[in-house]
Amino acid sequence: MNERLLAVTAELTHRCPLACPYCSNPLALARKRDEMAGGDWARVIREAASMGCLHIHFSGGEPLARGDLDDLVEAAAEAGLYSNLITSGIGLNDTRAGQLKAAGLDHVQVSFQDSVPRSNDRIAGLKGAFARKIEAAEAAHAAGLALTINAVVHRANVEHVPEMIDLAIALGAERIEIAHVQYYGWAAENHAALLPTRAQLDRATQDVEAARMAHDGALVIDYVVPDFHAARPKACMGGWGRRQMVISPAGRALPCHAAETIPDLGFDDVRTKPLAEIWERSEAFQRFRGTAWMTEPCRSCERREVDWGGCRCQALALAGDAGATDPACELAPTHDRVLALVARATDHPSADYRYRSFSSAVT
Ligand code: SF4
Ligand code: FES
Repeated sequence: MNERLLAVTAELTHRCPLACPYCSNPLALARKRDEMAGGDWARVIREAASMGCLHIHFSGGEPLARGDLDDLVEAAAEAGLYSNLITSGIGLNDTRAGQLKAAGLDHVQVSFQDSVPRSNDRIAGLKGAFARKIEAAEAAHAAGLALTINAVVHRANVEHVPEMIDLAIALGAERIEIAHVQYYGWAAENHAALLPTRAQLDRATQDVEAARMAHDGALVIDYVVPDFHAARPKACMGGWGRRQMVISPAGRALPCHAAETIPDLGFDDVRTKPLAEIWERSEAFQRFRGTAWMTEPCRSCERREVDWGGCRCQALALAGDAGATDPACELAPTHDRVLALVARATDHPSADYRYRSFSSAVT
C-alpha cells in the first residue's frame, strides 16, 4: 500500500487548564476515568515504531496533566521515535523541563493565545496564563529542548502576528507556527466570533511574508491559512489515512481529530487490535483513503491527489455528507454555505465565546 504511518498524535487526555474557544477536541470531552492506561500507551508506542512511524506528538488537552507522561516519553525514546510535547505551557517549569529532557523528550511546542498578556488570558480563559507560558517556553529552551511557538490566530489576535513572531524570537524558538483557526470541534461553535475578515487575513499574510524575509535563517515561520477564505481546501491530515493517526484519550484509533463526529464510522480500540491491522484494514481508515470514494467534482479534478478532497469532517458539518467535496472548495456544489458563514461572521460578528468545557461532556 502507498500509505505509511509516519506520525501518531497521542491525545493523552482531554483535561486542560485552558478553555480555548477554538479547541479541536470534540464537544463531548473524555473524562479522566475513560483515559487509556500508561501501559497500553507504551505498547501502542512500540507498535507504531515497529511499523516505521517516526514521530509521536504528545497532545491533549494538556498532556502534562498525566502523571505518567515521563514514562511515555521514555517509551518513545526507547522505541526510537522523535517526540514532541504539545502543551499550553501550564505546569512546565525548569524542573519539569529537565525531567522530560532526561526522559528523552526532543521537542516542545508551547501555544500562545496572543502577544498581549490580557488578551492571551481572555482567549485562554485563564488569568495569569501568559506569564506561565513565558516561563514554560524559557524552561524548555534552557533545558536544551527544541522549541516551537504555536500561535492560533483569529479575529481577536490576527493583527498581532508581527509581535507574536518577535515573541518567538525573544524566547529562543527555532520555529513558529501561525495557524489560522480550523473550523471544527469548539471552533465550529464560535466561528461568528473567530473568523477574521478578508482584510485581516490579507494583512496577516503580508506580515508573514515580510517577517520571513526579515528573519530568514533565524526562525522558521509556518503559516496555515483559513480555508474559508481560500479557493481550494486544505489537504486535511495530509490525506485521510495516508501518513497520520490520532489516538483519542480512550484509545480509539482515528484518522483525524474530529473523525468521531462522523456518525456511521466505527473506530477500533487500540487495546483490542494491533495497530498495524487497524492502519491497514479498519473500516474507519479505509473509508476515505485514496480517491476511490470520491464523487464529482473531486473524482475528475486534477487536484484530487493534492488536497484529497479537503476535510471530511468539514464536509459533514457543512454539507451534511462526509463523502462530499469539502464546501471550502469553490468547485463544491455546497460552496455557498461557506460564503454564507463568512458573510454572517463579517456582517454580524460576535464578541462572545463559548469556551471549551466539560459541562457538555457525555462520557
Ligand atoms: Fe480538491 Fe475536490 Fe475541490 Fe478538486 S474539486 S480542488 S479535489 S476539493
Ligand atoms: Fe477530519 Fe479534516 S478534521 S478530515
